[in-house]
Amino acid sequence: MRLDKYLADMNVGTRSELKRDIRKGLVTVGGSVIKDPGKNVDPVTDEVCYLGRKIVYETFVYYMLNKPAGVISATDDKRTKTVIDLLPEDRRKDIFPVGRLDKDTEGLLLITNDGELAHALLSPRRHVDKKYYARIRGVVTREDALAFASGIPLKDFTCMPADLVIERSSEISEVLVTIREGKFHQIKRMFEALGKEVIYLKRLEMGSLILDGELAPGEFRRLTEEELRSLCALAGLSRESGARQE
Ligand code: URA
Repeated sequence: MRLDKYLADMNVGTRSELKRDIRKGLVTVGGSVIKDPGKNVDPVTDEVCYLGRKIVYETFVYYMLNKPAGVISATDDKRTKTVIDLLPEDRRKDIFPVGRLDKDTEGLLLITNDGELAHALLSPRRHVDKKYYARIRGVVTREDALAFASGIPLKDFTCMPADLVIERSSEISEVLVTIREGKFHQIKRMFEALGKEVIYLKRLEMGSLILDGELAPGEFRRLTEEELRSLCALAGLSRESGARQE
């Protein structure tokens, strides 16, 4: 791969800025100054530094975001802040959220540029578990849990069996819900079908991925190697070489 493309792919500057800076001697490869923007570099084995900073080539990036309420699960929008706007500008190229959480839902969202992994995780055939914490207006009962377990019929489809664990049953109940599909407003609609209202919803887990309790709403971090390995195993993919973390 050309040296100027390597650096441009990693969003450290535009191709023309980088050509100029390479010619000025601001880039080293394996410790030697290289002034030819067309110099061939190997993204896996060569160590490339720009302005003294090591620039690791990554094919894929994977971030765990604790989505706050009030932002939408989209890549860009003219009026409303998106989950992608929560990441620094130099990391936003080509990334997208894997699935959607409603604007008022908080919690775990995977953000990546890896379309194949996203597709595998979202595939309706794979039934990846999604676990949520919810606060419900109304007393949630054992009968509700049984209804979740047997599959709640909605207007347009019948939900797959889902787990409902009651943590607190009261005027405002607290529950843990695990669903294996991801239809529009699904959990809200499931409770609505039982005459109850979701007043707070937060996703805690998606497949093997568990929301990091250290992340405040709006904060993100890269997935660890182990988290990525487990997700890829779940999706039946191998990603070791493409996802080189800093
Ligand atoms: N179910 C919902 O109703 N909303 C979400 O954001 C996710 C699941």
